[in-house]
Amino acid sequence: MRIAVIGSGYVGLTSAVCFAEIGHNVISVDNDKLKIAALERGTVPFHERFLPELLMRHRGGRLQFSASVADAVSESEAVFITVGTPQSETGEADLSFVEAVAREVASAIRSSIVIIEKSTVPVRTCESLRKTLLLNGAQQTLFSVASNPEFLREGTAVTDFLYPDRIVIGVDDHLSATVMHEIYRPLTTGSYYRREEAIPFEKRATQQAPIIVTNAKSAELIKHACNAFLAMKISFINAVANISESVGADIEQVCAGIGSDSRIGPKFLNAGIGYGGSCFPKDIQAFQVVAHQCNCDFGLLAEVMRINSDQARRFLTKVRDALWTLRGKRLAVLGLAFKGDTDDVRESPAIAIIEALLKEGALIRAYDPAAIPKAKGVLPDNNSVVYAADAYDAVAECDALLILTEWKEFASLDLHKIRSLLKHPIVIDGRNLYETARMTNAGLIYYSTGRSASFPAHMSSIAHQTAPLPAPFVRPAVGL
Ligand code: UGA
Repeated sequence: MRIAVIGSGYVGLTSAVCFAEIGHNVISVDNDKLKIAALERGTVPFHERFLPELLMRHRGGRLQFSASVADAVSESEAVFITVGTPQSETGEADLSFVEAVAREVASAIRSSIVIIEKSTVPVRTCESLRKTLLLNGAQQTLFSVASNPEFLREGTAVTDFLYPDRIVIGVDDHLSATVMHEIYRPLTTGSYYRREEAIPFEKRATQQAPIIVTNAKSAELIKHACNAFLAMKISFINAVANISESVGADIEQVCAGIGSDSRIGPKFLNAGIGYGGSCFPKDIQAFQVVAHQCNCDFGLLAEVMRINSDQARRFLTKVRDALWTLRGKRLAVLGLAFKGDTDDVRESPAIAIIEALLKEGALIRAYDPAAIPKAKGVLPDNNSVVYAADAYDAVAECDALLILTEWKEFASLDLHKIRSLLKHPIVIDGRNLYETARMTNAGLIYYSTGRSASFPAHMSSIAHQTAPLPAPFVRPAVGL
């Protein structure tokens, strides 16, 4: 199949490269000519496992790059739109880039083609897309429109694409259904997984990727509802963690108990400093606007967002509890990215926490395995933030260590070495990467989320008193 993918951001580039990997001829389009030139040279503009080798494998062969939408469309049977849908001032998704692409596509359609929306968009976008294509001269009989939401995560984008839990195609007619089935056939029949050079993955034994066929509106709704549900799961466990911390329970034990219920499942139950990134914060807001426009009161979403922003504030309170005043204190920070395995710092809770600490006069020594260059673009460029060469270099002579991103390498630090390098033996972990006993056995005071602060035996006299019992709960009156 000849495919054009318009927009070479995270979703677009990963999709283009993976479509080439499963056997299609792909033109990846972007209006940023410098980006296109870099991609042609084989340079991936972000940190993503397997993407560099797949780019090298297919560029110049099944994968071409272009800055021209018209050229790409005129040579393709399917066009994926994967341009950005940023948050507008009112919280809704700004679809102006999608509309602009639709106008360009419309004037380039010469033969039968399917236009597929893959960016995260509100429900009914396919309708608007269809209308825009017609208004801009596309012939009704030559095109059809489909929705194909993407569920890939940064850090595991390639394997998420090639080994999906499911592929969702939202189609309203025969042409788009046929073309979409054809595009994903190497995954749905499993022929890709039997290839020797297939990207390795533990699910390699997977025989066939499941495909869910819906109408376009349902597919659009699936995407927003999915991200909102995952964000809700994180906020839910963070709220439970706060109760757990206050009564002296252990959230990790609580999660093991909750997550083993097969109706709930263990994933996305990691308590911490809250979710960030370029998707959840924006998508939950946009979904709230969709609900509002449909006259549906979805107050749950507002609560998910409120709990999320509270988590970072609670973390700051913990830092103050541990260190008293912050002016002039040197704090080691491990993690700048919004999560592990990525260099992305967009809406990173780590960055928000660092900015708040700087406002209180703290000095930061930060380390992240991938995100330092991008963090330099958003954090102040003065001596208040210094970037370290590794985790141990970061903690040297610091008053405390703060863990803000769940990179795997931060979960296996030599704690005795950390203890000897720190000025004071204080670790405040926003990602619960350690068992409390491991920290205290290494002589470290350990603050985490959803668990009481723990102190080494020789410091037990400064352990906090048990929190006083809370005031009796008065059940609010329920009225309609
Ligand atoms: C998310 C979804 O997981 C993808 O399925 C979706 O395709 C993507 O958004 C998108 O809409 O494009 P991503 O933003 O890459 O993917 O990151 P996640 O792995 O979902 O993590 C989001 C945030 O939640 C991170 O800040 C992470 O640290 C946090 N998180 C995640 C928790 O705090 N606790 C958890 O248990 C899981």
